[in-house]
Amino acid sequence: MKSPLRLGLAGLGTVGAEVARQIIEHQDMLAVQAGRPIVIAAVSARDPKKNRNVDLSAAAWVEDPVQLAMRPGIDAVVELMGGAKGAAYHLAQSTLSTGKPLITANKGMLAAHWNELFDMSARYSAPIMFEASVCGGIPVIKVLREGLSGNRITRIEGILNGTCNYILSTMDATGRSFADVLAEAQAKGYAEADPTLDVDGWDAAHKLTILGKLAFDASVTTEQIAVTGIRSITTADLKGAREDGMTIRLVARAEKAPHGLNLRVSPMHLPLEHPLAAVTGAMNAVTIKAEPVDVCTLIGPGAGAGPTASAVLADIIDIARKI
Ligand SMILES: NC(=O)c1ccc[n+]([C@@H]2O[C@H](COP(=O)([O-])OP(=O)(O)OC[C@H]3O[C@@H](n4cnc5c(N)ncnc54)[C@H](OP(=O)(O)O)[C@@H]3O)[C@@H](O)[C@H]2O)c1
Repeated sequence: MKSPLRLGLAGLGTVGAEVARQIIEHQDMLAVQAGRPIVIAAVSARDPKKNRNVDLSAAAWVEDPVQLAMRPGIDAVVELMGGAKGAAYHLAQSTLSTGKPLITANKGMLAAHWNELFDMSARYSAPIMFEASVCGGIPVIKVLREGLSGNRITRIEGILNGTCNYILSTMDATGRSFADVLAEAQAKGYAEADPTLDVDGWDAAHKLTILGKLAFDASVTTEQIAVTGIRSITTADLKGAREDGMTIRLVARAEKAPHGLNLRVSPMHLPLEHPLAAVTGAMNAVTIKAEPVDVCTLIGPGAGAGPTASAVLADIIDIARKI
C-alpha cells in the first residue's frame, strides 16, 4: 500500500470532531477506499483541554492553526473552524501558498474570497475541495463538476438552509408562530444562538454564490443576489398559501435570463406538487435544470455532524487518490 496521507485538521467542533472520529474509527475501510492510509498527524482548535470524545493522542497539538500547513510531514489541510476572515482565511492562504491541498466546509470564506483563493490554487497547483460547503450530505458539488459537466445549466434552485426549512415547514404543519418555532429550533440545535445568517437568508446566499460560480460564471458574487429572509412570514401567510394549494419555502434560485443571471434568495410560494414543497424539516434539496439531462433533483440532509463529515471524507479520499 502507498504511504499515508497525513492531514492537518483545524477545528474540532461539531464537524471537525466527527471527521476525526470517522477517520480514526474506520481507518481500515477508508484506507481501502483511498488506496492508502489516512492519518490525522496534527490538530488545532482554541481550547487544548476540551474533551472532543475522540482519541487524538497520536496527533500533534498545534497552538496556532495557521502554522498547520507549514509543518513538515503534513500533506493536506482540513479547515473546519469557520469564519470568512481570521484564522480560517489565513490558514487557507498558508495552505495553498505551500502547494498543499485545502479541504474546507467554509462557505462564508469561499463566497468572500473565491477569486483570490482559486488564483492561489492555480498558481501553486494546490486543489481546493469544498463539497461540505453546500448542502452537507448532498454531493451537489460533485454532481455539478462531474456528473453534469457536459450539460448546459439554465437554472438551479434549492432549499439550501435547513434551519429556515425546519421553521417554515413546522409553522406550516402546526400553525405555531415564527418566534416559537425558532426557539424550538435553537433548543434542538438546528439554529444558532444568533440565527441572523440563517433566517435572514445570508447562509443560503453564500451557498448560492458557490453553486452559481460552478454552474454559470465564476464572477457571481453574493452582492449580486437579492436576499430576503423569513422573519416576516406569519402563520396566516402559510394558511393562505395552503388554501391556494401552495406552501412557502425559502428558495435560493440562480437562473439564466436574456441579459445575464437572475439571482435571488427569498420566501416563495410553491405548488404542493413542486419537488421542493415536499422537503420538510431540516432537509435540503437542489433542483438543476439543464440540457440535455432535463430536470434533476437531489434531496438529503444539509447539515449536522454526520452529513457534513460525509462530504469532508469524500474530499479527503479524492485527495488521497490523486496526490
Ligand atoms: N455544523 C454544521 O452542520 C455544518 C454544516 C456545513 C458546513 N459547516 C461548516 O463547517 C465549519 C465548522 O462548523 P462547526 O459547526 O463544526 O463549528 P464549531 O462547532 O463552532 O467548531 C469550530 C471549531 O473551530 C475551532 N476554532 C474556531 N476558531 C478558531 C481559531 N481562531 N483558532 C483555532 N481554532 C478555532 C473551535 O475550537 P474550540 O472547540 O476549542 O472552541 C472549534 O473546535 C464551518 O465553516 C461551518 O460553516 C458546518
